[in-house]
Amino acid sequence: MTTERRLRLAGIAYGGDYNPEQWPEEVWAEDMALMGEAGVTMVSVGIFSWALLEPSEGVYDFSRMDRILDLLHENGIAADLATPTACPPAWFFRAHPEALPIDRDGRTLSYGSRQTFCPSSRAYRTAALRIAGALAERYADHPAVAMWHVHNEYGCHNAECFCDTSAAAFRTWLKAKYGNDLNALNHAWGTTFWSQWYYDWEEILPPRATGADPNPTHRLDWRRFCSDELLSLFTAERDVLRRAAPHIPATTNFMVMHNFDAMDYWRWAPELDIVSNDHYLLATDPESETDIALCGDLVRSLAGGRPWLLMEHSTGAINWQPVNRAKTPGEMRRNALAHVAHGADGIAYFQWRAAKAGAEQWHSAMLPHAGTDSQIWQDVMQLGADLRALAEVGGSTSPAKVAIVWDWNARWAMELPSQPSSELRFQDLVRDWYTPLWKAGVAVDFIRPDSPDLDRYRLVLAPSLYLVDDAGATNLAAFVEHGGTLAVGFHSGAVDENCHVRLGGYPGAFRKVLGVHGDELFPLLPGQTVGLAGQVPQGATADLWTERLRLTGADAVATYAEGPLAGVPAITRHAYGSGTAWYLATHPDPTTLATVLERIREEAGVRPEHDVAAGVEVVRRRGAEADYLFLIDHAGHGAEIPAEGVELLTGKPVVGSVTVPEGGVAVVREATREPSGG
Ligand code: GAL
Repeated sequence: MTTERRLRLAGIAYGGDYNPEQWPEEVWAEDMALMGEAGVTMVSVGIFSWALLEPSEGVYDFSRMDRILDLLHENGIAADLATPTACPPAWFFRAHPEALPIDRDGRTLSYGSRQTFCPSSRAYRTAALRIAGALAERYADHPAVAMWHVHNEYGCHNAECFCDTSAAAFRTWLKAKYGNDLNALNHAWGTTFWSQWYYDWEEILPPRATGADPNPTHRLDWRRFCSDELLSLFTAERDVLRRAAPHIPATTNFMVMHNFDAMDYWRWAPELDIVSNDHYLLATDPESETDIALCGDLVRSLAGGRPWLLMEHSTGAINWQPVNRAKTPGEMRRNALAHVAHGADGIAYFQWRAAKAGAEQWHSAMLPHAGTDSQIWQDVMQLGADLRALAEVGGSTSPAKVAIVWDWNARWAMELPSQPSSELRFQDLVRDWYTPLWKAGVAVDFIRPDSPDLDRYRLVLAPSLYLVDDAGATNLAAFVEHGGTLAVGFHSGAVDENCHVRLGGYPGAFRKVLGVHGDELFPLLPGQTVGLAGQVPQGATADLWTERLRLTGADAVATYAEGPLAGVPAITRHAYGSGTAWYLATHPDPTTLATVLERIREEAGVRPEHDVAAGVEVVRRRGAEADYLFLIDHAGHGAEIPAEGVELLTGKPVVGSVTVPEGGVAVVREATREPSGG
């Protein structure tokens, strides 16, 4: 990020994807009037407009976009102008059928939807840079344009292509990684196994469908390549835009949400001028507010602690899950303000006006099919007023003393086939640890294993770090040595960056700092549980995972109460250097995990941001002159919370305590408080 390329919008931006090209122009005037009523300040335009902007190769029609941008400017609405490169037109594929992607099973996919192109296609890259360049040249000085929205959700539909062009690009990437040394690759991939040794670079293919389990390192390098390949498309477009318009910041919308794992966003984030994210709820998630909080904290961390933009979420039901549930009363407002609480300085929706036609005709929008005579429109108006009332929150940050280690390499590796258990899901394991902290109102950052400056934190948690390289493991051990508290989850440190098992006992890279030695893994079958005994709540159990562990310096805090590992340590605590390292060698039930994590946190001297009632989310944003205490009632009971200052959403002074309405939100401007645990 450079200081010159920041978004020049005051307060909290408000808006959504705006697709006026899908409507007759008479409708646009109504759009402007209603955007004005709702308090919309910025919209994303042109995301899927390639076919209209470039009717045939190199022939442009900017007339409609000219009118749209002029209209927005006349109405005081900023444009987040997209490059339309997620949707190459049909004429492009007729000229370049080789740019269509091929899936793992060898099927060529057809155009007629979106994001159906091979990321390594030269023809695609050339065409994408051409339209990006033409847009940049035409609109660099247009007063409406506040930001570039490069492409859309890279990797959403085409993170992997298995065609011969992708194979060649993969080999080029591998040659660079392994210094052109094929033997180095053979050793890293362990290709003496199953006769996989390669004698010629040309023999290497993408991990296409095979008869039995794939080579794990081959798969892992492939995922790294796929992320890098799309990143190179992003940076190429960004550079074209920068050359023409050096003053306009560029973003691309990430997909940090529940099950999307295709991109290594630690590598992407530094390339963006402004980090932005899309977040949708899973209808089957009974506590999706936890996912909003976790993802918000992760996005803020990707942004280096600086504010970020929520580029897309929904006012109501979406259209791409088996059953698309509507939001419950008040949920839309709670969702949006929770994103703000976790660092968003902009709230936007997919999309402004609900579509009549096309694959997303049943997706909610800010202006629903029913028009302004609708609950959603009332909520949209209310939210606009809320965001105006929160304008001064813009630019503030967050004061975390706890960090959770997050790593896409570890995630990809742990979820490869042929693991000790196929029941392990990285994001679920991290969320299990995140949830009790979030419920207790403890601020959390996310970090990479090798993050510098860990001494900013008192407590570092590594719930699920199956893969870690030496630098990461050393970094975390040094944090403990210098006085920090580290807690590590089971099956962490198991393999190195090449997915090779770390020999000499489990949990490989962390044996020494944790003061334990494991010699055999005992994953549990689905539904199987085991009792725990020791310093854990009465009736404590665990599931998913156990291992035969002995102490080599640590103390046992809990042991297995039954089964083949009865009496074996399950939770340990080790004084190491001037700090403490905990190992949770199993997956305790939620109450037990919450109790253990509370003890770890209290011993580390980390306090919640505020004492709150159960069910009320509490998040603190720290401004230059004040703190902003967000109180969000997810339980629907309402609460009276001690506070002093001003409640910004109502503008009322707060003396002694503030009322959080049932299912509602309060945001209190307070005098700056000592950082938690500080
Ligand atoms: C996003 C996408 C939008 C829209 C939305 C629907 O993934 O960026 O264009 O399709 O989903 O939920």
